[in-house]
Amino acid sequence: MLDQLHEMETKALAELAASQTEAALEQWHVAFLGRKGALTELLRGIGRLSAQERPAFGQEANRVKVALEQAYEQRAVAMRQAASQLQLAREQVDVTLPGRPVGPGHEHVSTRTLREIYDIFAAMGFQVVEAPEVETDINNFQLLNMPPHHPARDMWNTFHTTREGLLLRTHTSPGQIRVMRERCPEPIRVILPGKCYRYEQVTARHESMFYQVEGLAVGERLTMGDLKGTLISFSRQMFGPERKVRFRASYFPFTEPSAEVDIDCVLCGGKGCRVCKNSGWLEILGCGMVHPNVLRNGGYDPAHYTGFAFGMGPERIAMLKYGIDDIRYFFANDLRFLQQFV
Ligand code: PHE
Repeated sequence: MLDQLHEMETKALAELAASQTEAALEQWHVAFLGRKGALTELLRGIGRLSAQERPAFGQEANRVKVALEQAYEQRAVAMRQAASQLQLAREQVDVTLPGRPVGPGHEHVSTRTLREIYDIFAAMGFQVVEAPEVETDINNFQLLNMPPHHPARDMWNTFHTTREGLLLRTHTSPGQIRVMRERCPEPIRVILPGKCYRYEQVTARHESMFYQVEGLAVGERLTMGDLKGTLISFSRQMFGPERKVRFRASYFPFTEPSAEVDIDCVLCGGKGCRVCKNSGWLEILGCGMVHPNVLRNGGYDPAHYTGFAFGMGPERIAMLKYGIDDIRYFFANDLRFLQQFV
């Protein structure tokens, strides 16, 4: 019996050393130390021993049981450690590997141009005000002197919404109405920057979304001279102190008289080139004296108040200033373009 016990111990230890998985370890425990395992089997036979032999066998069996339990625990711990070592090795991260560089962002060229415009007009006393991009037909057209079906509406290809009477503003001019209605009868000197939307075939010169900066001044004695002085000063600060500036008669439904402002070509200095289409001049903005109907719609009595307004596209200004020949670059998010304006 004792021999059998020792044989069993040797076999158990050998098999324990050979078990490689947790499952094998559990099987081993059932086979040798379980309720129906080899040790229990041997202990059942104790009845066949003589009374003198029993205590020694009992003691030895106990020692074997403790030894096997200990060996089992050690093996289990070693196995868990090995498994976690393996996992650690597998998941190891090489902290010395250089990371992917994260390029710091910078001001977009449109934002940069907008801020230049703000600075110039701020110094002339204009306050920056914002107005919504989703507008009513009433503000975008009707109160700007374009009743429904007025042919001048064709000057702006419009994105309409599914809600009758709501559209994406085609220009920042509806902001004029909002500011006048809010401030009447106070005098006004504001610029209104923001995005505008037009249902355009996208080409090198047309985008369906772009910025505009509207300007509006309303007061009791404002004249075309104030308009000219303001815009000549702006043009020379933006494009250089030597710039020639001309006002060319034009038409907008919400201004009377209306004009467009040209500067002498920044590329050829007025001699004529591809950029100015041989005219020597570049158009930079539209403007005019606020139409009496528009003043009235804003709450101001045109018998006592006058105003001037202007609207410009910062992308267009940036194109002229930096010689960018395609407006689509602005919102295509190509870093090769954007990084030229760090
Ligand atoms: N809103 C006009 C446009 O989008 C520009 C403009 C603004 C002209 C204010 C005159 C006065 O073309």
